[in-house]
Amino acid sequence: MNVLLVGSGGREDAIARKVRETDNLYSVVTNENPSIIGLSRDVIKYKKNSQEIIDFAKKNKIDIAFVSPDDILNTDLVDKLSENHIPVASPGKKAAMIETSKEYMRNLMRKYRIKGDIENTILSDKETLKKFFDNNDSEYAVKPIGLTGGKGVRVMGLQLSNVAEAINYASEIIDRDGKVLMEKREIGEEFSIQAFTDSKTVVFMPVVQDYKRLYEDDLGPNTGGMGSISDKNFILPFLSIDVVNEAREILKHIVKSMREEGNPFRGVIYGQFMNTDHGVRVIEINARFADPEGINVLTLLKSNIVDIFLDIYSGTLKNNIKFMNKATVLKYIVPPGYGIKPRETELLIKDRIETDNFKIYYSSVSGTLNKVITTKSRALALIGIGDTIYEASDIVEDNLKYINGDYYIRHDIGTEAMMKGKIKD
Ligand code: GLY
Repeated sequence: MNVLLVGSGGREDAIARKVRETDNLYSVVTNENPSIIGLSRDVIKYKKNSQEIIDFAKKNKIDIAFVSPDDILNTDLVDKLSENHIPVASPGKKAAMIETSKEYMRNLMRKYRIKGDIENTILSDKETLKKFFDNNDSEYAVKPIGLTGGKGVRVMGLQLSNVAEAINYASEIIDRDGKVLMEKREIGEEFSIQAFTDSKTVVFMPVVQDYKRLYEDDLGPNTGGMGSISDKNFILPFLSIDVVNEAREILKHIVKSMREEGNPFRGVIYGQFMNTDHGVRVIEINARFADPEGINVLTLLKSNIVDIFLDIYSGTLKNNIKFMNKATVLKYIVPPGYGIKPRETELLIKDRIETDNFKIYYSSVSGTLNKVITTKSRALALIGIGDTIYEASDIVEDNLKYINGDYYIRHDIGTEAMMKGKIKD
């Protein structure tokens, strides 16, 4: 099979490696990712003009395409590929609205009475915004309606220290986008559930937890994600199976509601959930693999990903997808100053350090496999695979000696100290 992959971050490197276990890869890249380029038979640079990508797909007789990043799912590319009879295992622009419009997502949850909704309201003028705060004293998460790259959400009591700051930030969003989403602040442990779906069958992947905050002990500003963990038996030690099942039912209900709505979702769907003391709550729903959490599950995936893509496209997805029963810990190496004032840098990677229990995925970098040039974004995803989360974390730490250069990494992810704090809670 000839597979077209659009996207070139760490998550896409993990997809590319799965594809290459069995089939041929053709890639559309946004950065000159040396791993993806090395794995591909042919590569072009991403352009907004979808015709060039369609021509590339036709020239290479593509059997199935997978469009991975959120900003590209928010273009007409998937629809144009479909119109040109190129099979795609990703949602079109309308179905991707489950991620690209938080208004669409909250309206769907309200209309179909889907469990896990959060009290929310959309405000579009500053007068109403002020009255909104005059009339209630709860804390809120202030969110843009559209894509934020993981960095646009600010929460009162975390990034916003008082009502005045919340009003200022919400006003900024109204000025820019015309409206802002206010969601009542929820407290609890967050977790991610990703699933494959052909819009009828939903097949769940292992549960993962993402660490968004820049600094150790979950402090500092939000980032695209500094690392992520998954455990044996596919749930996390601080979540009960009832909580995980509640979240899975919510995700299934969302997929079913979109089908009933005449907007079927095909591809990978990913829910960011929170386990609160009054039940599971939906923080956001996304139309793709998560990054980094997608890398944890793709590393564990035993089934053939190309068969899964073909089944998603043809509506024949089966509940027989297999994952290795192991724990994983991923820590992202990022350039110095990442998230605040990043500096591009060079990293040297010793040859052939990958083993069965340690992998390096290449993210927003160019250069070669042994010497990468970073951008201002995440550079290398280091993942350990073990029998416990602690063991997987130690595997990453042990392999850091093979990577040289000026970088930042959160060492605390998956350590015993961090996990004990969570399990105690
Ligand atoms: N893990 C955050 C995201 O993929 O949006």
